[in-house]
Amino acid sequence: MTSFSGVAFSGSLRADSANLGLVRLAVELAPPELHLEVSTLPAALPFYNPDLETALPAVAVEWRTVVAAADVIVIGVPEYNWGPSALARNAVDWATRPFGQSALQGKVVALMTAGGKGGGTRAQDPFGTIIGMLGNTVVSEPAVTIPMGATRINAQGSDDAEVRELVAARMANVVAALHAR
Ligand SMILES: Cc1cc2nc3c(=O)[nH]c(=O)nc-3n(C[C@H](O)[C@H](O)[C@H](O)COP(=O)(O)O)c2cc1C
Repeated sequence: MTSFSGVAFSGSLRADSANLGLVRLAVELAPPELHLEVSTLPAALPFYNPDLETALPAVAVEWRTVVAAADVIVIGVPEYNWGPSALARNAVDWATRPFGQSALQGKVVALMTAGGKGGGTRAQDPFGTIIGMLGNTVVSEPAVTIPMGATRINAQGSDDAEVRELVAARMANVVAALHAR
């Protein structure tokens, strides 16, 4: 069986983050041929600053290495004020630098959101477009945009059958996209 690997991270620092729960569900429910690991490196990255590129912080080097080795990137991206959280965006920015040496290309990427009343499409749609423009395949079906997600998901995951089915179906589509590459 072909095997693939990937990295998953949450764009929220909140201890009981529902988006971390979605990421953990992705790890749990991915088909056996896809091995995902949760990374906490994005939470340790400094805010991106080009001046730091003269002597890259160790955490940024490590993050680039993890992204470069991954076939798949899964992001639990919160919607903050109609956009992706700064933490998620910062992790993407670091992975694309230094200029001309982006680690974030040729990946299959899945974005999932536990949002507030809006569910999160307004964060996910533009963020997915950006990640696609960076040279990646974004798998967006079925939509995993969970309104009031924190009422159904905690940081450990969720027993909610509908949420679990959506995440499992998305991960199956991610594997299909990997085979289609
Ligand atoms: C600063 C801030 C802005 C938010 N803006 C939105 C928003 O525009 N749309 C939305 O659906 N939810 C919004 N929310 C609600 C969060 O999406 C919701 O609390 C979510 O559960 C946060 O993710 P987490 O559980 O992973 O921390 C906002 C929350 C915060 C803290």
